[in-house]
Amino acid sequence: MTIWIRNAWYMAGWASELDGDGLLSRTILGQPLVLYRCEDGQIAVLEDRCCHRAAPLSRGRREGDQLRCMYHGLKFAADGACVEIPGQQTIPPAMRVRSFPAVEQQTLVWVWMGQAALADPAQIPSWPYLTDPSWRNLEGYIHYQADYRLIVDNLLDFSHLAYVHENSIGNASQATEKAQLERIPLGLRVTKLAPNEPPAPHFRKFGGFTGNVDRWNLYDWHVAGNVMLMDGGAEAVGKGGHQGPRETAVQFRHMTALTPETETTTHYFFAQSHNFAIDNPQVTRQVHETVANAFLEDKAMIEAQQRNIARDPTAPMQAISHDAALFHIRQRISAQIESETGAKRAAE
Ligand code: FES
Ligand SMILES: [Fe+2]
Repeated sequence: MTIWIRNAWYMAGWASELDGDGLLSRTILGQPLVLYRCEDGQIAVLEDRCCHRAAPLSRGRREGDQLRCMYHGLKFAADGACVEIPGQQTIPPAMRVRSFPAVEQQTLVWVWMGQAALADPAQIPSWPYLTDPSWRNLEGYIHYQADYRLIVDNLLDFSHLAYVHENSIGNASQATEKAQLERIPLGLRVTKLAPNEPPAPHFRKFGGFTGNVDRWNLYDWHVAGNVMLMDGGAEAVGKGGHQGPRETAVQFRHMTALTPETETTTHYFFAQSHNFAIDNPQVTRQVHETVANAFLEDKAMIEAQQRNIARDPTAPMQAISHDAALFHIRQRISAQIESETGAKRAAE
């Protein structure tokens, strides 16, 4: 039984990882891939396994937009077709490797792991803060030893901020204030308001707040591709908070994209954009490191959780009311997987 939605755009990496003419090897949904940028800027994504004797093409050699396997020298075009077999005249049509649709958008590279005919680039989430000149961010990546669904759970439940992140981005009210949830076609809209609370450590640091603040975390969770797009911020009490005009607010725009690598490992891509002190790269680094360090707090907990689950995968878990969002999304993931595998069975 698969645990992955296949018909979805997954973030494969940062476009900057494909600068130059190198080869990037990355496993997504258990499938080893090799990625490279063609001369016209298009991104080629091929199965990282030669159709001759299974050598990884990422150990191969670029020859313009083509890729030569460095075991016995078969050469492949960017669409996966074999175009040369040294010492052999004819190239049978089956002599090809699978290629995957890929799109670069707003500094991100997305790959479609499902049925190619269903790949619609219009479904790729847009996040203009990555390229808007009035915002700044650094490119974040963490490799996780955990089932992606445990990280999805974590991001859908901000009550953990009070405990996992008590010294970084959380405070006690996060565990008592309930999030409002609204089901939307692409997933879930989460509104987590924390009015009139002492500022969490990072808001004290970047906003210089001394008194209480109104804090907000407003985000959309995209079921396809496990993408979170968030508007988060804080402002001194009584200034309008998330409703504006936000003139004295400290605001962030956050993107997370979770791409399963294997059933028990995950690529965690993230960017925390800020629109204050944008000419100070040191502030951009500090903003980035604040969330990166908070995510390492999550990672320590989630990987330990994964190890416990692996020891006894069928042991029951008891639910609490904060689990509503994660249950909803887990159901949506399961329903989508069910419809994909059911449709596949019907077609067989
Ligand atoms: S394994 Fe690639 S050419 Fe033989
Ligand atoms: Fe967290």
